[in-house]
Amino acid sequence: MEHQGYEFVVVANRLAVNRVTTNEGATGWERSPGGLVTALAPIMAASEGAWVGWHGAADEELEPFDHEGLHLHPVPLTEREVHDFYEGFSNDTLWPLYHDVIVRPSFHRRWFNAYREVNQRFAEAAANVAGQGATVWVQDYQLQLVPQMLRDLRPDVTIGFFNHIPFPPPGIFAQLPWRHSVLRGLLGADLIGFQRESDARNFQRAVRSRLGHYIKSDRVYVPNEYDSQAGSPLKGFDADPERGTAPRQLSAPEEGTYRTAEARAFPISIDTETIQELAQDPSIISRAAQIRAELGHPKTIFLGVDRLDYTKGIRHRLKAYEELLREGELQVGDVTLVQIASPSREGVASYQQLRDEIDLTVGRINGEYDTMGHTAVRYLHHSYPLREMVALYLAADVMLVTALRDGMNLVAKEYVAARKSGDGVLVLSEFTGAADQLRQALLINPHDIEELKASMVTAATMDSDQARKRMRSLRRQVVSNNVSRWAKEFLESLSQQHTSA
Ligand code: G6P
Repeated sequence: MEHQGYEFVVVANRLAVNRVTTNEGATGWERSPGGLVTALAPIMAASEGAWVGWHGAADEELEPFDHEGLHLHPVPLTEREVHDFYEGFSNDTLWPLYHDVIVRPSFHRRWFNAYREVNQRFAEAAANVAGQGATVWVQDYQLQLVPQMLRDLRPDVTIGFFNHIPFPPPGIFAQLPWRHSVLRGLLGADLIGFQRESDARNFQRAVRSRLGHYIKSDRVYVPNEYDSQAGSPLKGFDADPERGTAPRQLSAPEEGTYRTAEARAFPISIDTETIQELAQDPSIISRAAQIRAELGHPKTIFLGVDRLDYTKGIRHRLKAYEELLREGELQVGDVTLVQIASPSREGVASYQQLRDEIDLTVGRINGEYDTMGHTAVRYLHHSYPLREMVALYLAADVMLVTALRDGMNLVAKEYVAARKSGDGVLVLSEFTGAADQLRQALLINPHDIEELKASMVTAATMDSDQARKRMRSLRRQVVSNNVSRWAKEFLESLSQQHTSA
């Protein structure tokens, strides 16, 4: 049967639009501001593409709809599934496990069952809209079983997968009771992309040690029997035990008995052009000046911009800052810290706990060090539109990115892209993907509070020649690698890999 449908399909947990309510109370949709949507929208327009994803509300079924040229196919989730699949398995099992177990992952069989069922729903939705021989690009850790499920339903399509978050070392990954299912789910793709070389290596090591497959030049040799029969898509997952390890294959299997799946790094970037344009917009430049004035014209504004997430090292940052104030190394009035923490995953207990801790710490620091005219920490628990973010980037002398583990960290890249004037200092955790590329930042280990403090002081006092030299080199990196180039490189490699697999 020849399938009718779209040539290019993106499958992501989130749809490419957010629901908005106007002042008059009417609801509508607005395109998501993220780089992924910006990068993929033109590709979708040029190649008849569709986006499959969850629209963010529970217990609501929506018909497919178009918005600003995007063809959107909403996948429904029940309230139970939001709890078990999204808050549970995705964000209370995989998220902490994949981020170095900063908090303890919870393992619940019911959550995994929901994950499997929801992944199957996404795979079916993609299979229904993909045309004959289409390219389907699956995004992120919420959908790791989709590639193989989709291959079982539609062996004719080319499948890519990109993991936006880290992939953990094999010793940590091995804790997952459903580790083989996840590896086999991912290996259903023709190309599996990761942020860092080390993530791709971790994945390859897990595949080699657990499933025993032969790997050469980033290509995993996947035995044909792994592709289960079309029509019984879960068969493959049920057949494979999670326990034990398969004997390691030391040479390539016989021709015709396998296909290959390529696994390597494609570091994501941002929509550099848009940020640069906004950074030159006179109204945004004057908004930046207004922010500085409202903060009382401090000599140094430190800025942190994060989702309120325990991976971001906000507590470590506040601890270092508080100690510097206590020791008199920094003085309120000369310096201020603006911390934007956008609300995130508020249904998950570890996020609620983090919020309480940050509220308490900020309250303590401000109580101790604020003056009538100046604040130590201006803490804002909101999200802001990109225009306001760029104004903040322009207003900030020092950007603090102190994540304990982060797939990439796009805020670091946005700050650099916005600093057209060539000054400003980036303090960057070496545990972010961005640290692989932004070598001229002040690289720090956020667990080392003394090092973090020293870097904050260095950043605040760095002479302008030195700062400009570093920023020049950072800008060269960021400006020449925008997110459209990332998407293009991934999709080109995907089509090459598919032809050679
Ligand atoms: C990270 C993940 C994304 C996710 C985003 C926001 O960047 O890699 O897949 O969409 O966080 O989290 P949320 O849970 O709100 O989708």
